[in-house]
Amino acid sequence: MCGIVAYIGHKNAQPLLMEGLKRLEYRGYDSAGMAVIGDDLQMTRAVGRVSVLEDLLEREPLTGSIGIAHTRWATHGEVTEANAHPHRDDRIGVAIIHNGTIENYASLKTYLQERGHEFVSETDTEVLAMLISELYDEANGGLETAVQSALREVRGAYAIAVVCEKEPGTLVAARKGSPLIVGVGDKEFIVASDASAIVAHTTQVFELDDYQVCKLTEDSFRTSTLENISVTPQIRQLEIDLEQIELGDFDTFMMKEIFEQPDSLRRTMLGRIKRDEGSVVLGGVLKFARDLVRARQVLLTGQGTAYNAAMVGQYLMEDLAKIPAKVEYASELRYRNPIIQDGTVLVAVSQSGETADTLAALREARERGAMTMGVVNVVGSSIARSTDAGVYLRVGPEIGVASTKAFTGQLMVMAMLALFTGRRRFLSVESCAELMGELERVPEMIERILEQNDSIREVAARYAERENWLFLGRGYNYPVAMEGALKLKEISYIHAEGMPAAEIKHGPIALINDGMPAVFIANKGPQYDKVMLNIEQVKSRGGRIIAVATEGDTEITKHAAPEDVFWIPQISDPLSPLLTVVPLQLLACHAAMIRGHDVDKPRNLAKSVTVE
Ligand code: AGP
Ligand code: GLU
Repeated sequence: MCGIVAYIGHKNAQPLLMEGLKRLEYRGYDSAGMAVIGDDLQMTRAVGRVSVLEDLLEREPLTGSIGIAHTRWATHGEVTEANAHPHRDDRIGVAIIHNGTIENYASLKTYLQERGHEFVSETDTEVLAMLISELYDEANGGLETAVQSALREVRGAYAIAVVCEKEPGTLVAARKGSPLIVGVGDKEFIVASDASAIVAHTTQVFELDDYQVCKLTEDSFRTSTLENISVTPQIRQLEIDLEQIELGDFDTFMMKEIFEQPDSLRRTMLGRIKRDEGSVVLGGVLKFARDLVRARQVLLTGQGTAYNAAMVGQYLMEDLAKIPAKVEYASELRYRNPIIQDGTVLVAVSQSGETADTLAALREARERGAMTMGVVNVVGSSIARSTDAGVYLRVGPEIGVASTKAFTGQLMVMAMLALFTGRRRFLSVESCAELMGELERVPEMIERILEQNDSIREVAARYAERENWLFLGRGYNYPVAMEGALKLKEISYIHAEGMPAAEIKHGPIALINDGMPAVFIANKGPQYDKVMLNIEQVKSRGGRIIAVATEGDTEITKHAAPEDVFWIPQISDPLSPLLTVVPLQLLACHAAMIRGHDVDKPRNLAKSVTVE
């Protein structure tokens, strides 16, 4: 979902902005552009990859020490150079980059056209450039005041950075609903959509809150509200480092992050598992432990992979904490006028902490009286800052668009949350300690699964050309079937459908044709025998069985060719998704690479969907 990076300082802006754009490419985009103020306002834009823009800038560099750069994910207007950002006004040299959507852009555009402004693009963003320009003259505070005045007229979501030829020493940033973070350097500032574009330059940062504007000069900054009331942001130390956002020895970030899971899960558990005491330590929840322990219902919500993780969370909360739980797509929850009864705890699950639907559903539930919790990866993200309590995943930046280590991090956090709550309700110290002991062994179990990488690649090679796949599981592994299908479809573009294994009989079995891949999660769980029945139903109609099975299972190879079985160590059913998903992540990654796709930047996808 688009990327913003802006610089003001004493260095030449172009190389820093270009490096920042490359760090933000993983967010998904369709065009890119840059504007720099030197002797005058200079701008270059291009459709396609950042490398296309880079080639243009190598031929005709932009010079100056203040600039803005953008990767666009089109919402208003086709993917063309004219619609690429930055956009500028037609009078005083205002240039702007924007992440989000201006909902009332049409009425504002009419108002501005009536005042003689001539538009050259189809975007909503250009309207903002013209509006700031229109209000500049009456804004005796200059660009900062003009931006405040303009944003008071705007409805929608925005993260913006604005420069103006008439005020070459000023950069103004503002946000509402889309993320924006400010890096504080030595006589320089870098503003960006996320920390990956900042960490190479400084680790001192602060986030802007909704409806806040920040005026930056080379050696100062001021943050204020739209009504120009000064606010003091909290400067914090970034917890990530450059190595975490570099590819290292891997060909793709997705593969790197799959293999990183043993270590990322060790980080997730660090300091939180006190097995000897049979207790889980979750500092961000402790203050609200009573609300959680006495909850009448836990309502989990998210989108995509986070939703699939929330489904596992539902099983965990009922199974281990004995609290009624339900899960709902955030996009549905936010609009269906939900009944949020007293004693409801809402758990928002999100890697980025910026998904618009999840943030909106969280706010809707909170308005209706729910205690809110976040299960989030990005520190300081909008969802993390909007909840009463929460637990960070601590898996480090997830660059691959297809979520992998964040998914297992979410599962781990929700298992710990269920144990944290269950231990305060009916779970015995012994049961808790036993499950915690298994949790502590999950990283080494995953390392054993990753050793099958080559055989999993061979399975992908055998079936990568098949255009329709089924993924089937029961109980805790029904959500894993959903996740396996999502992984395959979003990066290999193969049509894949996940479902409860029993559902096969109620229609989908009609899809089975000769050799159709059917991936069953058939670990030794309470419904193993039922899964075997479903396998036979599919196999007898010509389906090709691919299975995730428990080491030592001799039954499964009567139905699936040995070379089509992925083996996982024995583990308790509630924790099995942490293992069963790993072969499916590798399967999807290999299938996509075999089909020649860009695994880290799949077509049409964004890493964080900050618009509806
Ligand atoms: C996951 O592989 C997808 N990229 C996507 O479904 C993602 O999980 C979803 O957009 C939610 O994102 P979030 O976790 O950042 O809220
Ligand atoms: N709404 C703006 C456009 O369509 C910005 C989209 C984005 O977030 O990249 O250009």
